[in-house]
Amino acid sequence: MDEVELDKAWIQNPWPRYEEMRKQGPARRVVMPDGVPGWLITDYAEARSLLDDRRLSKDVRRARQFFPPGKLNAYRTRLSEHMLNDDPPNHTRLRKLVNKAFTSRAVSRLRPQIERITDDLLDGIEASDGEVELIEAFAFPLPIAVISELLGVPHADRDRIRDWSRAFISGAPIEPLMVAVDEQTAYLHELIAAKRVTPGEDLLSDLVHVTDDGDRLSEDELVAMAFLLLIAGHETTVNLLATAVYSLLLNPKQEELLRGDPSLLPGAVEEFLRTGSPIHLATIRFATEPVPVGDVEIPAGEFVMISLLAANADEARFEDPHELDITRPMGGHLAFGHGIHYCLGAPLARLEGEIAIGRLLARFPSLRLAVDPSELRWRTSTLVHGLRQLPVIAS
Ligand code: HEM
Repeated sequence: MDEVELDKAWIQNPWPRYEEMRKQGPARRVVMPDGVPGWLITDYAEARSLLDDRRLSKDVRRARQFFPPGKLNAYRTRLSEHMLNDDPPNHTRLRKLVNKAFTSRAVSRLRPQIERITDDLLDGIEASDGEVELIEAFAFPLPIAVISELLGVPHADRDRIRDWSRAFISGAPIEPLMVAVDEQTAYLHELIAAKRVTPGEDLLSDLVHVTDDGDRLSEDELVAMAFLLLIAGHETTVNLLATAVYSLLLNPKQEELLRGDPSLLPGAVEEFLRTGSPIHLATIRFATEPVPVGDVEIPAGEFVMISLLAANADEARFEDPHELDITRPMGGHLAFGHGIHYCLGAPLARLEGEIAIGRLLARFPSLRLAVDPSELRWRTSTLVHGLRQLPVIAS
């Protein structure tokens, strides 16, 4: 079977290509727009099963041996050695140490803070009187404020965290990106040192002092964990919020339904997650042994990318997959992954989504797009799926 070469234009509308690929089998060998080869999974059932398949490793240290220096730079730093890039037993150990902070119960205690952050941002939008770029004014600052609050980043430092996050999100060239990584690493070491001396009521202080059956995080593990939480908790939620608003504004009947009955919010957030999949191909794993998938065999040592966007639009699993239907039976989508790496922050992301979308709609009864939808562009990253900008009239 031929290798599929994906060009940059493909990412603006990947679905037709995915449907074509899926008809030929659940896994195809591809060359990504940046030249990296791998296997792309487009079928829901295979995606779900491979997300939880131990023959596919997430251990970044093992992956490095397959790639010459110059490739995979972002994976070469100590910062990348966190639980999302690790396998059991170390993954299990790291996740156990941080699990408690992310249960639905623990997260629901953050509701008043998330509401206050949301309302402050909405006040700012209201004061701006008219057209705003909703990502800059709302979707970007909201989750970074929430995660900074959760981790206990002092207010005075939050602009710096935002700037670094902007560098990571903008897909900056490798050099400025590595500068941002170095600066953020140095900053996290300082912050951790401060929490050791004066602990606060926050997650980072807890992690510094946590002992689970006598287990502790090393300094490098702590920094990598804080980095993971800042990154994983930010960019994904930015994309969820922006894509949610965009898809509602393109589907006025669904918008009306939701405005009329806010109890539909939890189901609506699930549907935004399914149709928008904020994580697209950042599910990279590599085969530690040959893995048969459908009629092909993925050889050991090759990359496997599980397309959550494709899986969530598989018509074998979801009826009329491209229709936004906020009353669709909940559950089953793979936007948060599946198996042992299932998103730790899912309860937090859901809560942020419900509060942010609910309050935005309540505040602005005639919210509308400020440009023709054809003018909107998706970011070119293949790892995540999100709009570059979302200009709206907030009234
Ligand atoms: C893992 C999606 C928000 C923390 C994951 C994975 C996905 C995902 C797909 C698994 C990736 C894989 O298996 O390769 C999302 C989406 C979000 C979101 C769509 C928002 C809409 C958050 C938030 C946090 C968070 C708010 C925390 C503050 C994590 C962590 C992991 C993870 C720590 C690694 C878990 C592990 O390796 O066991 N997320 N995420 N995420 N997410 Fe999220």
